[in-house]
Amino acid sequence: MADKDGILKSINAALKSKKLYPPGHPAIAAPAKKSHEMIAEALKAAPHIMIGLVNDALIFENHPVADADRLYPELINYMSEKGVDAIIFEKGLGDKEFANLVDILTSAASYRGPELQMEMHQKGITHITLKSMPIGKKSIIVVYNGAVETIKNVMHEVRLGKIPKSEPVKKVIEELTETVLTDQNAIIGLTMIKNYDNYLYNHSVNVSIIALSLGKALNLESGELHAVGIGSLLHDIGKTGVAENIIRKPGGLSSEEWEKIKEHPLLGSNIIKRMEGLDETVGRLIYEHHIRYDHSGYPQTTAKLHPLTQIITISDAYDALTTLRVYQQPHNPVEAVKVMNNFSGRHFNPDILGTFISMIGAYPVGTMVRLTTNEVGVVTRINKDAQDRPTLKLLYNADGSGLPSPIEVDLAQTDEKSIVSTVNPATTGTDLAAFFEQEAAMQEGACQTP
Ligand SMILES: [Fe+2]
Ligand SMILES: [Fe+2]
Repeated sequence: MADKDGILKSINAALKSKKLYPPGHPAIAAPAKKSHEMIAEALKAAPHIMIGLVNDALIFENHPVADADRLYPELINYMSEKGVDAIIFEKGLGDKEFANLVDILTSAASYRGPELQMEMHQKGITHITLKSMPIGKKSIIVVYNGAVETIKNVMHEVRLGKIPKSEPVKKVIEELTETVLTDQNAIIGLTMIKNYDNYLYNHSVNVSIIALSLGKALNLESGELHAVGIGSLLHDIGKTGVAENIIRKPGGLSSEEWEKIKEHPLLGSNIIKRMEGLDETVGRLIYEHHIRYDHSGYPQTTAKLHPLTQIITISDAYDALTTLRVYQQPHNPVEAVKVMNNFSGRHFNPDILGTFISMIGAYPVGTMVRLTTNEVGVVTRINKDAQDRPTLKLLYNADGSGLPSPIEVDLAQTDEKSIVSTVNPATTGTDLAAFFEQEAAMQEGACQTP
């Protein structure tokens, strides 16, 4: 039986002394040496020893460690700081390897999670494995739903008269940015979720996904991209100050009600000013999101627009056009792009709209299409070099019967089929939101298999 307390205590001491003393100081070597000896002793009876961190709780060989926060704070801090979920020591562990592990865990370098294993290899550490959840692989559906929950909470707090915290909003934007950078097609697919009851929340998240994608296509530097992300997630936060019955009113608004709606950009930017730690650009983007390129729209102003505002205006328009509203059938993505293109140079900055159109594709992710073979499918990935030949998942056979499970076809790889037209999902009874949720869930399953 491994001396659990002895091992954890000496590892904690080694990490702590590393923090307190300069390199080469004898106070560092002693606890590291002791840790190595104790672990090596324990490894005589077991092929490996595992120390884990699960939801901030320390685990030793599958058992939670009591009072770990008080007893082993350095170990917990360094593991969570470096994104390490488990440290596994294997038989044959050398003392040099252990000393190197202490160096890596305490280093000021910004390597985290899976990147650390690379560093371990470079330092010749072969008997220690650092396990981490791949950073980019937190399932996208979890990221999406988390974002919806966060904006819902933020707006709820505002309605209660509280000033919401910025931290959860920033965290959501970091996660969405990472997902957009690593898996843009899949997350854009999820913007097909247009939950009618939750409209404002899903809309906010969808707009931020589209805006981050557009920001990426425009090669924004990270600070600007972050401001665009926060601004787009919170762009309609001022609607919390407009009565619910006006926001949800089916049919036409009276001019008085319309005046109320028009207050939301100003109300929103005022809320942002009171939230701690948000860049003032964010408030400005929110204030300007309904001012069009030609300065029509609202609030009325002749002042020059912030160069990033149009990113939100364009993303907002695209999500609104593709959503079923009481007063509007949803446009399919191809139609939505056409409608927007008609307003190029008036509502929208032609350059940014041009980048948006090439980013979203001739057949954007989420478009339902009929092929020359009469099969029907949904676009799941655009091919940058062949805009009219995206990758699809086929859902219906040529005779209109449903396929038992979707079949992927990359039109860029075949000459046998091409797109002849778009199809209204309502005519086939297809729930695209459910389709993309399913796709994301399957992808999640694939990530979990070893
Ligand atoms: Fe708005
Ligand atoms: Fe909006």
